[in-house]
Amino acid sequence: MWWLFCVFLLNQSHALPNFVFVLTDDQDLTLRSLDFLNQTVKLVANQGLTFTNFYVNSPICCPSRSTILTGKYPHNIQVFNNSLTGGCSSVRWQQQYEKNTIASILKSRKNYTTFYAGKYLNQYGKSGKGVKHVPPGYDWWLGLKGNSKYYNYTLSINGSGHFFEKDYLTDKITKYALDFLNQTDEGNFFMMLAPPACHAPFTPADRHRRLFPDLETLKTPPFNATPSDKHWIVAMPPMSLPQNVQILDEIYKNRIRTLQSVDEMVQALITKLQEIRVLDNTYFIVTSDNGFHIGQFTQPWDKRQPYESDIRVPFMIRGPNIRKKTVSEVSVSAVDIFATILDLAEITSFESDGRSFKEILFKNQSFDNKYTFIEYWGEGNANSIDSTCPWGPTNQLSECVPEAWCKCQDSRNNTYTCVLDISSAKKIKFCLFEYGFVEAYDLIEDPHELVNLKLDEDQTTHYLNVLEKFKFCKKAQCQINI
Ligand SMILES: *[C@@H]1O[C@H](CO)[C@@H](O)[C@H](O)[C@H]1NC(C)=O
Ligand SMILES: *[C@@H]1O[C@H](CO)[C@@H](O)[C@H](O)[C@H]1NC(C)=O
Ligand SMILES: *[C@@H]1O[C@H](CO)[C@@H](O)[C@H](O)[C@H]1NC(C)=O
Ligand SMILES: *[C@@H]1O[C@H](CO)[C@@H](O)[C@H](O)[C@H]1NC(C)=O
Ligand SMILES: *[C@@H]1O[C@H](CO)[C@@H](O)[C@H](O)[C@H]1NC(C)=O
Ligand SMILES: *[C@@H]1O[C@H](CO)[C@@H](O)[C@H](O)[C@H]1NC(C)=O
Ligand SMILES: *[C@@H]1O[C@H](CO)[C@@H](O)[C@H](O)[C@H]1NC(C)=O
Ligand SMILES: *[C@@H]1O[C@H](CO)[C@@H](O)[C@H](O)[C@H]1NC(C)=O
Repeated sequence: MWWLFCVFLLNQSHALPNFVFVLTDDQDLTLRSLDFLNQTVKLVANQGLTFTNFYVNSPICCPSRSTILTGKYPHNIQVFNNSLTGGCSSVRWQQQYEKNTIASILKSRKNYTTFYAGKYLNQYGKSGKGVKHVPPGYDWWLGLKGNSKYYNYTLSINGSGHFFEKDYLTDKITKYALDFLNQTDEGNFFMMLAPPACHAPFTPADRHRRLFPDLETLKTPPFNATPSDKHWIVAMPPMSLPQNVQILDEIYKNRIRTLQSVDEMVQALITKLQEIRVLDNTYFIVTSDNGFHIGQFTQPWDKRQPYESDIRVPFMIRGPNIRKKTVSEVSVSAVDIFATILDLAEITSFESDGRSFKEILFKNQSFDNKYTFIEYWGEGNANSIDSTCPWGPTNQLSECVPEAWCKCQDSRNNTYTCVLDISSAKKIKFCLFEYGFVEAYDLIEDPHELVNLKLDEDQTTHYLNVLEKFKFCKKAQCQINI
């Protein structure tokens, strides 16, 4: 009878799904970038489920990506910013945290064949063994050295560095992905594709350079809204945008143009998955590492703030048993992706600060009752302050340049934690800045965060307590009920 059991096990493993996970860079939701991703919307969102309250746990690339890969909050993997000293792809990260990622667990526990192509972590290739370092668990490793670039980049191809001048990176990722799929056999696979789009320097592929000539940046209600009730760095002068915001239009337009190659990538992948007859057994996910703002509350163009533009991002998923054209308003976040993918692959024992949202994918669950947590450590960098700006060299501020009217993009005291209290009855955001300042928004009454609420003392104390619990939470302690 033992062989019957073996046949059962074999069948079980054959029933496991594949995963294709597209992680874009700095892609907004609130500036409506999805309006320009027609294929992605048609082939992924409309074939599956979209979360309207999907948040990242830190609005900056390296901490957010590290959280996605490990299912742990930045404070538990010691990744505080995009620098090596802040833990980004540092030797400490490699030795302590990188061993337990989605890919390495799928590989070691369920024998998935694994693939990664594109931007990994901003400092990848710059510490330890450099690009010779292949993160544990990947069979195919095509990791971009350093931060997002579109041309003139180095890829670690299975641990050996290769420089490419003229191959547009998003297209290169697509090509490797199709090669990989061309060679897959019976086994299960996990693929992660991380294009540079639509991160700075916003360089479109040649074929997309002239698209949307008349597009202007989206003037959402917070665009040029006076930030006087906001925290220090946002309320810093100038308090209104100049007349000529052509540079913002150019940035908006070029971001959308860079995303066209991502749209083509998604289409090519779906076509290929169909051709090799695995589409029905593949979960296909599209999301972003953080959002972006362009002119909101008079800030130039960046992320790093606790506003919806920066922390609420696109998330769509199609795959087995997910009904078409469904929408969920349940609040889930980047830290939950790890547990969800492992859960879908029938792996149950693992350590994570997040929780699986698998059930929400299949059932029309209205609201659950957990808080969502965001944390950010403000940066200062004297080298990023232009000498013609009136602020002088200081490590307390960063990214102050005349093209952006010397409005600085970050400061040390932009260090904060936020909690989102989202249920069917309410939608409150509560943020505490390290220097004691509070910002709170009722996102039902005021979805654009125009008015910083004054909550009563009981509510304030309550949220401060919740934040205190989140700040140092580990694993199950991070599941805090509303
Ligand atoms: C996307 O679809 C919309 C509406 O169907 C259409 O107006 C628009 O031209 C399409 N955009 C692109 C880039 O194909
Ligand atoms: C990044 O984080 C580290 C550790 O907290 C800190 O020492 C460093 O100054 C930060 N980098 C910047 C640019 O703020
Ligand atoms: C990377 O390594 C894998 C596993 O050894 C191999 O199958 C694949 O062809 C290699 N990819 C490239 C692009 O060299
Ligand atoms: C690559 O960099 C070189 C040197 O800066 C530059 O001349 C060249 O135009 C760049 N290539 C592309 C395709 O951008
Ligand atoms: C995949 O294989 C098909 C035929 O088997 C071939 O025509 C195609 O060029 C291959 N694609 C890639 C990206 O290697
Ligand atoms: C693991 O997967 C590979 C590729 O599909 C397959 O060749 C190998 O036999 C599998 N190993 C085990 C132990 O199942
Ligand atoms: C739940 O039901 C509502 C109303 O019928 C529908 O709009 C929504 O897309 C459904 N969501 C899911 C996740 O099935
Ligand atoms: C924030 O930091 C700047 C730069 O050091 C300082 O000038 C400012 O007073 C600080 N703001 C608060 C409210 O602490």
